[in-house]
Amino acid sequence: MAKVFITYPFSEDWIKELLEKHDCEVYPETSPPTIDEIKKRIKKKDAILCLLRDPITREVIDEASALKVISNYAVGYDNIDVEYAISKGIVVTNTPDILTNATAELALSLVFALIRRIVEADKFTREGRFEGWLPELFLGMELSGSTVGVVGAGRIGSSFAEKVMKLGANVLYFSRRRKVHLEKLGARMVELEELLKKSDIISLHLPLTGETHHIIGEKEFQMMGRNTFLVNTGRGALIDEVALAEALASGRIAGAALDVYEYEPGITTSLLKMDNVVLTPHIGSATYRARKGMAEIAVKNIILTLEGKEPLYRVK
Ligand code: NAP
Ligand code: GLV
Ligand code: GLV
Repeated sequence: MAKVFITYPFSEDWIKELLEKHDCEVYPETSPPTIDEIKKRIKKKDAILCLLRDPITREVIDEASALKVISNYAVGYDNIDVEYAISKGIVVTNTPDILTNATAELALSLVFALIRRIVEADKFTREGRFEGWLPELFLGMELSGSTVGVVGAGRIGSSFAEKVMKLGANVLYFSRRRKVHLEKLGARMVELEELLKKSDIISLHLPLTGETHHIIGEKEFQMMGRNTFLVNTGRGALIDEVALAEALASGRIAGAALDVYEYEPGITTSLLKMDNVVLTPHIGSATYRARKGMAEIAVKNIILTLEGKEPLYRVK
């Protein structure tokens, strides 16, 4: 039996195999352990099953002399110092694919919420302000016929692009590599600048890295049209959130829908008061199917690695 630290009290049914096979210490609270608590509990552990909110930094890794695998319960792994872990011979794993459709569907939901002003209209109705049908009440925009810019055409970005093309949108995408499967459906690969200038709706699907940090800032907002809507289900720090709040306040862009935040769970307060902003609490993969499947994969990744086998999904 190996020793495993699990940083969240998952439903036992979701991580059963790990609890049965190994000696697991489960963090009892749903609130995040502090870095000192992680450092204390990771000592002498062979594996850690962690969440995207848990910083697995160089400092944490240095405490874990027996660690063999870091299994992140997420596809994104910007919370982990992956280079350092690998340099120490530690395997880092994640949970892609199972959450692709759920996250792409959330991005699509946010698009419709934004362009048809659903949250604003819901509030208006609940406040008892609906006094009858009006020709110009809550006018919005149609997805069909619009140009959608997909930034980062990986698994989730591609799935989102396919969905909006099926609904009649034209797609421009920015990515490192050409995506033939998207081009066959009519999408066109462009530079970021062209995408920002020509898109009615921009949706971010990049991982957060040194290269993508603040890829959307003041300069990029200047390139967008005044009628542009921005959606972010990637990572908060892809956007300079202060510049976003300014672009929205000045009418530089039409609206934004965010599932992720630069200083999560903190949110730039001015965004909370804006009617043309839709905010969700990082629920991209939050379907029963995806979240349970992610647990099964995260568990398998640990079990296989500890058996000396290749995990289902290794990062890098
Ligand atoms: P993925 O398949 O790796 O897709 C990311 C794509 O970004 C890659 O295909 C890559 O393009 C592109 N890319 C990376 N660096 C780039 C750069 N510097 N310039 C241009 N393109 C770049 O990952 P995924 O499964 O789609 O997930 C994407 C991200 O979504 C995750 O990292 C995570 O942060 C986020 N996410 C959020 C939620 C949520 O709850 N909101 C849920 C799941 C995932 P190429 O293929 O062209 O190289
Ligand atoms: C969620 O944000 C993930 O990266 O899985
Ligand atoms: C709207 O409800 C219509 O009938 O046009």
